[in-house]
Amino acid sequence: MSQPTAQKPKRWQYLIDVASLEPNDATPVELGNRVMAVYDTNEGIFVSDARCTHAGANLCDGYFDGKYIECPLHQGLFDATTGKAVAAPVTRNLRLYENRTVDGKLQILV
Ligand code: FES
Repeated sequence: MSQPTAQKPKRWQYLIDVASLEPNDATPVELGNRVMAVYDTNEGIFVSDARCTHAGANLCDGYFDGKYIECPLHQGLFDATTGKAVAAPVTRNLRLYENRTVDGKLQILV
């Protein structure tokens, strides 16, 4: 009988000072060997991996209107506030990370 795989406990990870975010835009932030996308939306801050779920383009290079991020490679569209893939060719949603701001520092739960 196999043992259940133990889940690593999640922890809050510092990402960027909120004052350093590009207002009403998607800011790329390196986290280890990954790049995260931090969206300053009309509804608050949301964070996802910056890689498009279609073919891996950096979403931070795409067009952002305050809610929707358009991929720069094939123009797939995501709702940055939910991660939902809303226009072809993207079909897989973005994973959003829980985030919080402590003393002006943005943290995500990883
Ligand atoms: S890589 Fe983003 S839509 Fe193709």
